[in-house]
Amino acid sequence: MAELNIFVFILLYLINSAVGSGILCEIGFCQKFVNDGGCSQPAADCSINNATHTGMWLPSPTLCNCCEYCLPFYGREQPCSLGGTGTGTNIGRCTDGYTCERHEDGGSYCQRMDTECHRAQDSYDQRSALGQVGVLEERPLCDGKGQYAHISCTPTQTCFCQTEHGERIFGEAPNLGAGMPEKMRCGCSMLYHKITTTISPGVPEPVTTPRCTSDGNFHPIQCVGNTCYCVDIITGRFLDGAERSVNLTEEPITKMVCYDRDLDNYPEQSEGDPPYKFTTSCYENIVEVSSWIQQSIEDGYNMEYHNSLPECLPDGSSGRIALLGNGTKICVDERGQPIKDYSAAPGTPEFDNMDCKCALTSHIMTSNELPVCCRNGNFRRIQCRRGVCWCVDAEGRQQGGESESIMTLACFNVAWRDC
Ligand SMILES: *[C@@H]1O[C@H](CO)[C@@H](O)[C@H](O)[C@H]1NC(C)=O
Ligand SMILES: *[C@@H]1O[C@H](CO)[C@@H](O)[C@H](O)[C@H]1NC(C)=O
Ligand SMILES: *[C@@H]1O[C@H](CO)[C@@H](O)[C@H](O)[C@H]1NC(C)=O
Repeated sequence: MAELNIFVFILLYLINSAVGSGILCEIGFCQKFVNDGGCSQPAADCSINNATHTGMWLPSPTLCNCCEYCLPFYGREQPCSLGGTGTGTNIGRCTDGYTCERHEDGGSYCQRMDTECHRAQDSYDQRSALGQVGVLEERPLCDGKGQYAHISCTPTQTCFCQTEHGERIFGEAPNLGAGMPEKMRCGCSMLYHKITTTISPGVPEPVTTPRCTSDGNFHPIQCVGNTCYCVDIITGRFLDGAERSVNLTEEPITKMVCYDRDLDNYPEQSEGDPPYKFTTSCYENIVEVSSWIQQSIEDGYNMEYHNSLPECLPDGSSGRIALLGNGTKICVDERGQPIKDYSAAPGTPEFDNMDCKCALTSHIMTSNELPVCCRNGNFRRIQCRRGVCWCVDAEGRQQGGESESIMTLACFNVAWRDC
């Protein structure tokens, strides 16, 4: 199938470049081309678009893309082509989550990919058929390759970014229902995750990473040295235009068309006389520690630097857990402000396992039915609402159905109220 896609791409590319001048594809050309019978009937699948017949409209691989062209998607058990020579003129592909596999009868058919995310969906579906799915449990989202989609959502609560293996990464936003996967692409936090996990830890130099917003998208302003540019928050690509960049030596980021006051966690850096800044105390700390390390190497002694470079979150902050002078940890938001009075004293189990996930989730939620958090800001494992209770995982996602009696819950523990 890959060969076919590449072939279609090359074909489109050749046609586009041959006619790119626009001379051939002038107004009226397609009308004539179509009238002269230059087009063949597109596959019906795109127009039918029901449970068994779907497809995608694409630019047609014909002169000037005049014709309508439909790439059919084949569903479960439907015949498909494995590509290569002599496999016929069958030009659709298996639909998302399916792959073309040869069968013992000699034919090839679309089969659902066997992946962790699909198994999680199947388990959800089985429990759903038995009426064992909780009201706040959401069917896992998988991508076209059967891997976990880029977000995991809890109804009425929040969505957070995750890797293709379903591992939570930076980025969380209120769950506003339909459209979340498009609004929250997590491109920045995934890129950040890739950069930081690929580069071996213990590198004594600060690594350049993109600046993300708290929802995992790209911050609309990215700076290289002292020059800042406007970028697309979904793709991170630089947007053209002189008015879209500033030189911090002369002007603050507030002069940029893409400046958004709500996303500026450090407005004081744009105040007063030039030069201006677009940094954070966490980034400055990294630069400082890194220069000590460089100095110590030049001075000929080896400072132990392994893991000693401070780590910043992808939004440039130092984290969502802050350590007070007396050793107590508290939960803070993206601007470093304490969230309610969540805290944990040193030397306690609450201190060691503090993750502030519940504090952060309830801090950004728009619904007023907030989850119950432990004193240290973690999710309480039993949540109750409107006379029923259920279990949640450390991320606040419901696990299994509701019960009127908490003692029957799998996560029940006599000390449940104390977390
Ligand atoms: C979809 O439409 C096709 C063609 O009209 C029909 O043969 C098929 O049974 C339909 N499938 C479903 C599930 O309705
Ligand atoms: C930014 O402005 C300063 C001062 O005017 C100038 O020296 C520097 O070359 C400028 N940087 C760029 C990248 O244009
Ligand atoms: C540490 O300081 C905070 C804030 O000043 C206070 O609320 C807390 O009780 C102190 N903790 C300890 C263990 O002294």
